Amino acid sequence: MSKKQKTIFVCQECGYESAKWMGQCICGQWNTMVEEKLPENGLNKTSVINSESKPIPIQEVQSGIHSRLDTGINELNRVLGGGLVKGSVTLISGEPGIGKSTLILQAASAIAENNGKVLYVTGEESEEQIKIRADRIHAVSENLYLLSETDIDRVMHFVRNIEPVFLIIDSIQTLYSQNLTSAPGTVSQVRDCANEIVREAKIKNIPVFIIAHVTKSGDLAGPRILEHMVDTVLNFNGERSQELRILRSYKNRFGTTSEIGAFEMKESGLTQFDNLSKSFLDGLEKEAEGAVVTCSYEGTRPLLLEVQALAVPANIGFARRTSIGIDNGRLNMIIAVLEKKTGLSLINHDIYVNIVGGIKPDGTATDLAVALAVYSSYKGIRIPSDRIAVLGEIGLTGELRPVPNAERMMKEASKMGFRIVMMPEKNSKKINENTENTKIISVGTLYEAIQTIEII
Ligand SMILES: Nc1ncnc2c1ncn2[C@@H]1O[C@H](COP(=O)(O)OP(=O)(O)O)[C@@H](O)[C@H]1O
Ligand SMILES: [Mg+2]
Ligand SMILES: [Zn+2]
Repeated sequence: MSKKQKTIFVCQECGYESAKWMGQCICGQWNTMVEEKLPENGLNKTSVINSESKPIPIQEVQSGIHSRLDTGINELNRVLGGGLVKGSVTLISGEPGIGKSTLILQAASAIAENNGKVLYVTGEESEEQIKIRADRIHAVSENLYLLSETDIDRVMHFVRNIEPVFLIIDSIQTLYSQNLTSAPGTVSQVRDCANEIVREAKIKNIPVFIIAHVTKSGDLAGPRILEHMVDTVLNFNGERSQELRILRSYKNRFGTTSEIGAFEMKESGLTQFDNLSKSFLDGLEKEAEGAVVTCSYEGTRPLLLEVQALAVPANIGFARRTSIGIDNGRLNMIIAVLEKKTGLSLINHDIYVNIVGGIKPDGTATDLAVALAVYSSYKGIRIPSDRIAVLGEIGLTGELRPVPNAERMMKEASKMGFRIVMMPEKNSKKINENTENTKIISVGTLYEAIQTIEII
């Protein structure tokens, strides 16, 4: 008589396991519990203990610089913290069609060219499809091996066989383990397969890139837990209709998470920008209502951005506040301060704010530009956006607070031909000389900034 196989319920969002079905998981999500059968020998918790491990005194631990591979793509190296660390596992997520496979294939061929065998496992596409792409983007190297396979055991067999210097899994949601009966892409499958991959990466010191899809809301489809299992989490995004693509890291055990990488999607693959600010300001209209140029600091480089705002009378009930590229809470705060300190009444206006180019700037240096863009649209006044760049954080009392790296942001503006930079007094005090062609307008409060912009 066969024993009845045990089942558990697993939340597809957070991985929480429960013996009973629940309508709402402890993570707050509804209807995410899926019944999964336990393997005969209990949960397949792969052990990372290898027989040679033993405790060693901390002084004897070899530290120093991680050994890194050059991916052949500067922008990718930058986001990773200076190249690909051996034995590290990186998760790259993004919407379908954004260019994940293209980016990683480019890195794969460069590494294959310079370092040795690279194994590209594809569960998404056939070898032919990958080859067609590789031909198009000139990413063909004799050391680059393609494997169209979805069974994790067979994948691992070939990994041990080929001993690649770099492994790519495209995508984790297509892999499955025969130990489990649940469908590929479910939490148990993803966790089990990822476990195997991570273990192999650590034991053999192979760097791995795992590609994962995200759902429309931007979450990793299903398995959040993946983020905890890997060393680095990257996200690749952009507007599919436009060519600009931004690579950003959300977790990095081997570097900062503030660097971004910028690419342009072309027929020949992803290319890097020489002048990032220029690409973000392409299409900037001179003196358009509601448009203001600002500067943010992304990782180690300053970046000029165009802020656009639209304030229009609201039809019914609640006025809308919609923002793309800045936090909605931040926008609401800026609007509240703008109303309180300048006497503007925006209660009956829908307000839309967009950071052009699909980037979400880090930090608060864009506050003042957002406020001025809203003001400009509401009042119908034009700010000479081709000549003036604006930066500064807005405090709740309406004062302008200093932002880090103001001098370097000003230099970037100057380089891009902006003749005036408006910035908080607390920043300008520390900047001694005006750069040759660029003048600083220093302002203490939001009110003062508005007064000044009216007469420029
Ligand atoms: N022949 C082509 N010429 C130019 N761009 C192409 C061509 N074929 C595909 N692309 C670009 O490549 C993108 C798909 O990239 P891909 O790396 O497959 O994305 P992902 O792996 O993220 O789903 C398409 O959205 C398109 O922008
Ligand atoms: Mg793909
Ligand atoms: Zn949950």
